[in-house]
Amino acid sequence: MGKVKIKNVQAGLFVPADYFSRLRKADIFPNEDKPLEVDLGCGDGAFLVAMAREFPERNFLGVERLLGRVRKVARDITRAGLTNAKVLRLESKYTIEWLLEKNSISRLHLLCPDPWPKARHHERRLVQQDFLHSLWDSLAPESEFLFKTDHDEYFDWVRYEVEQFGKFSMIPWQDGDFFYPKTDFQLLWESQGKRLQSLRCKKGTSHMG
Ligand SMILES: C[S@@+](CC[C@H](N)C(=O)[O-])C[C@H]1O[C@@H](n2cnc3c(N)ncnc32)[C@H](O)[C@@H]1O
Repeated sequence: MGKVKIKNVQAGLFVPADYFSRLRKADIFPNEDKPLEVDLGCGDGAFLVAMAREFPERNFLGVERLLGRVRKVARDITRAGLTNAKVLRLESKYTIEWLLEKNSISRLHLLCPDPWPKARHHERRLVQQDFLHSLWDSLAPESEFLFKTDHDEYFDWVRYEVEQFGKFSMIPWQDGDFFYPKTDFQLLWESQGKRLQSLRCKKGTSHMG
């Protein structure tokens, strides 16, 4: 029984052979050259799995640090028979800064991340200038960084940081513009009457002016 559980998890789980060398896309999804989308802090993985079902022509990597969530996501990927989705148990910033190949990500999703609302915890917020530099390097040309939060002050923080960074073009983004399933936390926040704000940032040839 224990063996079966481990086996069921393994197909959806990605464990790097080496955590100190930069990965190529083919190290994660061998023999495939599909666009790679990354869901940072993928939580229970409902968004990741729904996206992978909808877009078999793309590959999806979820990144999550909590073991219980990683196990659930890996199990759901395996049960769904998806070969274009995997989950990696690792810290988000490290993954972007040190692990993933540069110019490799076609879309980076950061959905309902921890807002760290107390001022003394703001330094823990993921979106800061050093993260944006690493993110820019890891994104492929014509790629996108997509962000959603229910936390108005964190939204303003992220928009300000992106504007200060100065290289992304902001694109208007409204619900229904394209297939984009709601995440578990989005459903939770909306059930409590909260409203999410969204940011769609493009790494294109033109910069914000
Ligand atoms: C508020 S939840 C949002 C989950 C999911 N994106 C959603 O919208 O349903 C934030 C998730 O990010 C994970 N997380 C927070 N900080 C992280 C980090 N530094 N590296 C990896 N995962 C992180 C948490 O464990 C949690 O599952």
